[in-house]
Amino acid sequence: MAVTPRPAQDGGAARTPFIAGNWKMNLDHLQAIAFVQKLAWSLRDAGHDFAAVEVAVFPPFTDLRSVQTLVAADKLELAYGAQDLSAHDSGAYTGEISGAFLAALDARYVIIGHSERRQYHGETDEVVAAKTAAAIKHGIVPVVCVGETAEDLEQHGPSAVPVAQLRGALAHLSSPADLVIAYEPVWAIGSGQAATPEQAQQVCAALRAELGSLLGADVAAATRILYGGSVKSGNIAGFLRQPDVDGALVGGASLDVAEFSSIARYQKHVGV
Ligand code: PGA
Repeated sequence: MAVTPRPAQDGGAARTPFIAGNWKMNLDHLQAIAFVQKLAWSLRDAGHDFAAVEVAVFPPFTDLRSVQTLVAADKLELAYGAQDLSAHDSGAYTGEISGAFLAALDARYVIIGHSERRQYHGETDEVVAAKTAAAIKHGIVPVVCVGETAEDLEQHGPSAVPVAQLRGALAHLSSPADLVIAYEPVWAIGSGQAATPEQAQQVCAALRAELGSLLGADVAAATRILYGGSVKSGNIAGFLRQPDVDGALVGGASLDVAEFSSIARYQKHVGV
């Protein structure tokens, strides 16, 4: 079965598929330079069309300056972003990183509300909402993560918790904004047990419907919604066949150049 481009709805813009690699706390700045170089070569050698499928890496903060320098010097078409930011602009917040600093490093994206931040750093929907607003204020596109635990799934069904988290994350937004949403079921992250494409589609469709009621039909049609949780080269195509899944947020498999570039070239797996 062929992968079709994300259809434009009601004459709106088509959504460019997005493959994002969340490195988490892996690879120092020297390793990042070697990795990004290899990834760029691998994709270029394979004739990757970066305009057709956008590829981004999300290294640790300490790598970002090195990645920026490399991307700018070699004119790489890879995008990059941070894994978190502060809700504050500047001041007495020891250890925090301002969106202004990320913008100064030309970071295009920032992951917000990853389940590991919610779980290990106590990030509530209020914190996620404040960080989402901060990213937008500094001109950085937030990649807002939502997803239910196995218990949530049992108690509330598939969409209730992710949809409520999305409502929470967008609480400070009243006008259209450039956003990416990542649906990452907590039970699928790092477990080797991905959701099925149909499960991902069901929740991504519910998230898009919620976006529509919160921010309007144009934002709903233009916003990319990613699936994340045990994505690999062997299962990516199934997710991207779904009409409301516009890409993937990849953890473990993003740390292997061959595997990650194969995920980015998912269209080749199905002969499109
Ligand atoms: P995983 O992680 O691909 O290793 O399951 C995904 C994520 O946490 O973003």
